[in-house]
Amino acid sequence: MDKKRKIGIGIAAVLLALALGGAAWYCSSSGDGKTGGEKPLAEGTATEEKDDEEEKQDEETEEEAPDEEPSEGEEEISSEEENGGSTNSGSSQNTGDSYPRPAGTSVVSNPESITVLVNKANFLPEGWAPSDLVSVGGGQQLRAEAATALNSLKAAAKADGYTFNVISGYRTKETQISLYSNYMAQDPEGAPYLSAYPRSSEHELGLAMDISPDWSLHYDLLETGLGKWMTAHAHEYGWILRYPEGKTGVTGYVFEAWHYRYVGKSLAAEIKSSGLTLEEYYGSI
Ligand code: DAL
Ligand code: ZN
Repeated sequence: MDKKRKIGIGIAAVLLALALGGAAWYCSSSGDGKTGGEKPLAEGTATEEKDDEEEKQDEETEEEAPDEEPSEGEEEISSEEENGGSTNSGSSQNTGDSYPRPAGTSVVSNPESITVLVNKANFLPEGWAPSDLVSVGGGQQLRAEAATALNSLKAAAKADGYTFNVISGYRTKETQISLYSNYMAQDPEGAPYLSAYPRSSEHELGLAMDISPDWSLHYDLLETGLGKWMTAHAHEYGWILRYPEGKTGVTGYVFEAWHYRYVGKSLAAEIKSSGLTLEEYYGSI
């Protein structure tokens, strides 16, 4: 059986299993326990930093579903030259970690930068964590600047009649390991298109969020009023849709209608007007 067919069958099997039994295996996000119509896949959240009130809201409710079957070779994405020269190349670092950095990848030298490119080729340094995380509600955290921008975004959306929740924000490495290993256990070939290898997730950067009108990830978000509003206005507050439809070959991930990355107003405006992904943008400058 060829790889693409196996991935397709694997994803179909996951979707079927989740339709039958729920999606608890995939995620560890917080919420109010409600689940939505979609039942697949998910990203998770950090739980370590939650306070008592936030912990009450914790349920495994976050779900996500790929609607785009990855094809062979799509995992190839840009190298360190394409992220503004902000990485240190080097061999993988096997320090006894069960998830050592893969060979051929690089470590970003500017993890504090709002515009840093973190992806399959550009990893966060071991031991690095954001130092300015703040609560954004729902048991979630983001870096301070992103949290402020989120507040502005939410206020503007609300003024136009739309509300949403952040159902996954900052994640520790341990949380990402848990999510990634769950995916790998279910579908080793499809998992890398759905979940980031530990230390390469934007959620570990503290500048990414998964949003929902409720507490479930919605595949069709961009077709809803909220999604259309986000498409029109998110960049005005510094946010970009990070894994757009049809860009799996560039980003290495299937379409994620819910995953937004804070990059600041200036870069977000450039990304929006260019129609490029962050990888493509850095590769073009
Ligand atoms: N699902 C996205 C790619 C993550 O795990 O960060
Ligand atoms: Zn996400």
